[in-house]
This record gives sequence, C-alpha cells and structure tokens, in this order.
Amino acid sequence: MPPPKRIHELIEERQKLRILISFHRKFLLSHSLTQTLDILSLEIKQLLKAERVTIFLLDSRREELIAKSASGLDGKTISTLRFPVTQGIAGHVVRSGRIVNVKNAYRDKRFDPRFDELYGFKTGSVLASPLKNSGGEIVGVLEVFNKLKAEKFNKEDEGLLDLVAGQLAGTLEISQLVDQLRRSNLEAIYILAQAAEYRDQEDTARHLKRISDYSSLLAKTIALPDDRVEMIKFASPLHDIGKIAIRDSILRKPGRFTPDEHDEMKKHALLGYEILKDAQSPLLKLARDIALAHHEHYDGSGYPRKLKGVEIPIEARIVALADVFDALSTERIYKPPWPFERVIEYIAGESGKHFDPQLVEAFQGKISQIKALMDLPY
Ligand code: C2E
Ligand code: SIN
Ligand code: SIN
Ligand code: FE
Ligand code: FE
Repeated sequence: MPPPKRIHELIEERQKLRILISFHRKFLLSHSLTQTLDILSLEIKQLLKAERVTIFLLDSRREELIAKSASGLDGKTISTLRFPVTQGIAGHVVRSGRIVNVKNAYRDKRFDPRFDELYGFKTGSVLASPLKNSGGEIVGVLEVFNKLKAEKFNKEDEGLLDLVAGQLAGTLEISQLVDQLRRSNLEAIYILAQAAEYRDQEDTARHLKRISDYSSLLAKTIALPDDRVEMIKFASPLHDIGKIAIRDSILRKPGRFTPDEHDEMKKHALLGYEILKDAQSPLLKLARDIALAHHEHYDGSGYPRKLKGVEIPIEARIVALADVFDALSTERIYKPPWPFERVIEYIAGESGKHFDPQLVEAFQGKISQIKALMDLPY
C-alpha cells in the first residue's frame, strides 16, 4: 500500500487538477488565442516546475514549427523562433509522434543549441510532447525546459505533460473553430453587402472598403473603444443593403432625380432595416441600426425618422459622414467626382447641419490619412 499523502501534496494535486480543467474556459473568456496561450504556457511552467515553456504550432504546409508562446524568456520576442521539422528535439517529436524526455540536451544529438545562443538560455533537461487534434493529427509541440530542483523530468511529469498536451490541443481546436466561424460569418456579411451594391457601383469592392476604412478611422479618432471600432468596420459596408430592393430605373438612373424619384430611393433606409430586422448577432444588429439611420441629419432634417443629434446612433452619424464624403469625392452614375477641396469645404459647411460637429472636427484632423485611404488602389 502506498504511504498516505501529506496535506501539501494533496493541495498540490488539487491545484494541478484545477489548472487542467480550466484550460478551455480560459480560452472562451479571453477570445484571443495568443493571450490564452501566454496564460497557459505560464501555468504549464508552474505545473511542471520548469524554467521555461514553448508552445510550437506546425505551419499549414507542415514544414516548420513556429513558437506561438514562450514563457520564461523574460519578455524576449518569440516571433523569430521557428525551425524546420527536420531539426531539433521538437522536430523529432513531430516525426516520431511521441513524448521525448531528455536529461541533458547538450548530450543529445537532436538538440539544436542555436536557440540557447539566441536567447541567452542554458538548456538542461527537456520534456516535449506532440499536440494532437481530435483526428489524431499532430498540430504542434509542447516543450518544457529545465526541471527545477531536479536533474530531469520523471515519469509523473511525462504523464502530466501528456494530459496537458491533450487539453491544450483541444483548446487550439476550439479556437480554430471559433476563428473559422468568425471568418465565414464576416465573409457572408461582405458578400451580402457586395450583392446590394453590385447593380449600383462600378467598383463595388473598393467602395465598400473605403466606407469601412473611413468609418473605422473616424470611430477611432473620436476614441470609441476598439471593439466598437471593429464592429463599425464590419457593419458599415451594409449601410445601403436596402438598395437591393430599389428598381433599376431609379437605382441606375444616369441623371438627376426628380423629387418623386428621390422619395422612392429614400425608402432604401427603411428597406435595409426590414431586411436586417430579425438579426440576432450584435454585428448585424448594428448594421440594421446603421442602415436605418445613415441618412438622418444632425439638425433633424434627414430621413426616415428626422432624428436629431444624439438620438441618431453614433455609428450611423459616422457612416453618414463617410458615405457622403465617398459619394462626393468619387464618380457616381448621376454625378462627376467633385474636386477634393470642394468636398472638404462642403463637409465643413455641413457641421452641425448634416453632420455631427465632433465628427467634422475628427475628419478635419485626419485629412491626410483620409486622402491616403481614398487613393488606395484596392
Ligand atoms: P450615394 O450615392 O451613396 O449618396 C449618399 C449621399 O451623399 C446622398 O444621400 C447625399 O446626402 C450625398 N450626395 C451625393 N451626391 C451629392 C451631390 O451631388 N450633392 C450633395 N449636396 N450631396 C450629395 P441621398 O441624397 O439621400 O441619396 C441617397 C442615394 O440616392 C445616393 O447614394 C444615390 O444612390 C441615390 N441618388 C441621390 N441623388 C441621386 C440622383 O440625382 N440621381 C441618381 N441616379 N441617384 C441619386
Ligand atoms: C527550443 O530551444 O525552443 C527548441 C529546441 C529544440 O527543440 O531542439
Ligand atoms: C456613444 O459612445 O455611443 C456616445 C458617443 C456620442 O454620442 O457622441
Ligand atoms: Fe444610403
Ligand atoms: Fe451610400
């Protein structure tokens, strides 16, 4: 019978378990893979009582290992830490698919001492495990260096690293799924925006990119928080989604509108709202609010609801300025482009009328950046 465990050992075991089961939750809370990996590598370092930890991911061509997080390198950049899978202990782990336990790296031919030179570190013992996804495919390597107060990592450490590697691989897989979902979601939104502009514009993609660029620049300049700037960046291209329901004879009319035609066109704001009204995601809800309110004027003379000042969501006030700036500064089927100076003057003259004065001020402070965005070839 094994001897009874002492209290501090029990506490330590509990601590280990707590770390192990909290991996996924940490990721879901932080939403950033890099940040999660940094937290986890620090915990793995403590768990294994090692001097340093590196998490390597395999590149998509499965040729190189790239360090995504390293703890114990005292803030030194890890972006340069990458090497081919044909090299190093970590490379051997990828090729063999098994845990490797090395007592003294300098007596092991597989070890590549260049990293010690690069980072001013003296590697002693090394324990490295493959990171496998749920399909059993190797996606990276978890490597811990220099067991504290001992010559080498023992069998228990191997078991622990194996468990941690399993958890870590699971976390990576979830993060990749979330990332994929996020990207396909944004892609679908962009395609929707393009469909709406397709009949209207010669260079749809550039028009959408400009609206998105100007809007996020303005949002940033008035110091909206980063997450809201990001939301505006992706929601703004949908502002004219309602135009998808406007007939060609109006939408593509080569000349100036009659008042009746303009009234017909004005419906695109409410139509955009209708299209997006059942949206559940924060991003599409914002797009809905922008679509509805992007033709409101700060002084209350806009449409469709004649909202005034702060009754208009700030994001819609931002897109209003970005949209008019883009409409005036580029060619439309109904008008030639205006000279840049004239556009600037017009926007200044509309401060407090069409536009929120704080946004006109922000715009005026960023003229050179806006000009640069305008002239981008894509
Ligand atoms: P858009 O081309 O994206 O223009 C957005 C907004 O920019 C316009 O909203 C208006 O506030 C401003 N804007 C555009 N061109 C001029 C201009 O020459 N002078 C001035 N002062 N402001 C201008 P608005 O007027 O509510 O128009 C909404 C949409 O209706 C426009 O989107 C465009 O697609 C269409 N549109 C407006 N006027 C005409 C027109 O006379 N002929 C044609 N074919 N389409 C028009
Ligand atoms: C490292 O020092 O980070 C990698 C060394 C190796 O795996 O050989
Ligand atoms: C907001 O952050 O929504 C308020 C900013 C403003 O209304 O200008
Ligand atoms: Fe519009
Ligand atoms: Fe527009």
